Amino acid sequence: MASTNGAAQVLVASNRGPVSYTVGEDGSLNAKRGGGGLVSGLSAIGSDADALWVCSALSDGDREAVRRGAGEDGVRMLDIPADVHADAYNGVANSVLWFVHHMLYQTPLEPVFDAEFRRQWTSYERYNRAFAEALAEEAARGATVVVQDYHLTLVPGMLRELRPDLRIGHFSHTPWAPPEYFRMLPDDVAGQVLRGMLGADRLGFLTRRWADAFVACAERFAGGLGGTRIGVHGLGADADFLRQRSHEKDVEERMAALREEIGEGRRTIVRVDRTELSKNIVRGLLAYRTLLDSHAEWRERVVHVAFAYPSRQDLAVYREYTAEVQRVSEEINAEYGTPGWTPVVLNLKDDFARSLAAYRLADVALVNPIRDGMNLVAKEVPVVSDAGCALVLSREVGAYEELGEDAITVNPYDVTGTAAALHEALSMHPEERAERAKRLAAAATALPPAQWFLDQLDALRAER
Ligand code: G6P
Repeated sequence: MASTNGAAQVLVASNRGPVSYTVGEDGSLNAKRGGGGLVSGLSAIGSDADALWVCSALSDGDREAVRRGAGEDGVRMLDIPADVHADAYNGVANSVLWFVHHMLYQTPLEPVFDAEFRRQWTSYERYNRAFAEALAEEAARGATVVVQDYHLTLVPGMLRELRPDLRIGHFSHTPWAPPEYFRMLPDDVAGQVLRGMLGADRLGFLTRRWADAFVACAERFAGGLGGTRIGVHGLGADADFLRQRSHEKDVEERMAALREEIGEGRRTIVRVDRTELSKNIVRGLLAYRTLLDSHAEWRERVVHVAFAYPSRQDLAVYREYTAEVQRVSEEINAEYGTPGWTPVVLNLKDDFARSLAAYRLADVALVNPIRDGMNLVAKEVPVVSDAGCALVLSREVGAYEELGEDAITVNPYDVTGTAAALHEALSMHPEERAERAKRLAAAATALPPAQWFLDQLDALRAER
């Protein structure tokens, strides 16, 4: 599908690609294009630049598109056997590597690295090998390849062996675990991950903190960095796109509907996330409940708008977490709600226009993850909110390095402290709020996605 026959000069590799397919009732294929930093980055280098995005088929629709050879220009989807992909993506990437880097294990009982894990690890190797081989096949002599994220940690090393002429970068969109946590992985697996990554000329991270953690792991468990360079690129929000998109008609319509749901004259505490374990949605709800309890003056006067979109639903622990978010929301509504006031407006259906509508209405943005590579919501809401929002921000997210000063920062485990921060945010004088939001928006948009991507390409080309 959309092979360049070895002519690509710039290649991106990621598990999730920029397009996904569904098969319609009449058998026709529908393509849906996604957004995000890489999409803007690649469009910035221009469509004639011989760029290729190598990604995995994720759904039946994607696989069908590969079989029909119906690919979009500039995208090559790999039809990796579904069971191999499931082991690599669900079993290793999302249940082990994601958990390690976000420190999500309940360690008395997990992780357990047994024969089943070993079987899945073999699939992870196969899946990484499929990417390395496709990249080796598509890349022109001396081309630049940027490999994305924890799904593909082995690719740089494998690709280096196949094609020593390439400039290879890897970028981590997640945190990196500190050595004491990383060493939970079986020694040989930890070694493979590190050596795989160190096959790259250059490794990119979202903040200094995650870069330092990687360097510490490399020094302790892999004998150092060798010739690999480390770079920090703090992906920012796309101000132009957001400001324009958030004033389109569909967003205005959703604002009207949301206003109705919230009720006249009430403040809003807004959060928008994937329903993701690391996002700490449940403790956010508990903090809101504590606020209503300890500051009764806010009852009837505030609404917590929580959008929690489905994510990784093949994993039982994500389904259970979603159910818990629903349960706690209902509990709060049952306990505090009145005929004219619903304290928590929870929505689990993904709707980008409605997210932007909530951003515009936000008085307070709540971003309290237990650990997060960057967190773009923290950067987007201050840019979009009409009146300038106050930001309650976890000190454990990458964005904290850039936004900490003008946010009200919290320890994400401290529910009482988060409730106090919500009270402080709701009580902030409108002028101060607007001033802070202006500074937050400036910091949040300092490195727009296209520049973020181009900087990485430049650095990679300069270093060899
Ligand atoms: C994080 C990861 C990305 C991933 C995204 C959505 O941001 O760093 O690589 O694409 O989550 O997760 P999903 O599993 O749906 O691709």
